[in-house]
Amino acid sequence: MLHLAVFASGHGSNLEAIYNSIENGLLKGVELTLVISNNSTSGAIAFAKAKHISGIHLSLLKCNNDPKGLEDETLRILENAKIDIIALAGYMKKLPAEVITKYRGRIVNVHPALLPEFGGEGMYGLNVHKAVIAAQKKHSGASVHFVEGEYDTGKIILQEFCSVFETDTPELLAERIKKIEHRILPLGIQIIADKISNKVPVINT
Ligand code: GRF
Repeated sequence: MLHLAVFASGHGSNLEAIYNSIENGLLKGVELTLVISNNSTSGAIAFAKAKHISGIHLSLLKCNNDPKGLEDETLRILENAKIDIIALAGYMKKLPAEVITKYRGRIVNVHPALLPEFGGEGMYGLNVHKAVIAAQKKHSGASVHFVEGEYDTGKIILQEFCSVFETDTPELLAERIKKIEHRILPLGIQIIADKISNKVPVINT
């Protein structure tokens, strides 16, 4: 079994989708070992508690505003839990640099648009969908990609498209795309898990 850590800041619906995929046997060979959130009141932490999964609140503030302290503590927690794969599921912070280096090719993020468009700093939540509608795009969707140092820049693992209708509001589009995210994030994790299990290189360096 590979050990998965999920980082999440908000509602945790993508965390729940991962959990359900494991429970119903769609996502195989992976155990949801750890949930980490920068937000102690996040739905993600509450969900972890309800399911008796280790849920850890970890933030810069909790580490006395010391970025090195946060980096060391994150690495310590991940190493203690023998984590193999990290999924960012609505995580609003950047992972510390050493974490990205150590787990490179084993960290995935889900983004609610068709990268490389509508990604980068400030492109989160409804901002993404507002920008897509303002640009009069006919299609949007979601992307699962590897995590590198900069926001939304890593290699894309998979994407699913949907239509953008003239009647769409950012909220309606967000709702349609959330359903896609819930499908493709577990699939992206499965792709990486299979490669790790079969000792196939996950990412080109
Ligand atoms: C998702 O739309 C994700 O793509 C974005 O943040 C949102 C998190 O939603 N990065 P949830 O907390 O998983 O419900």
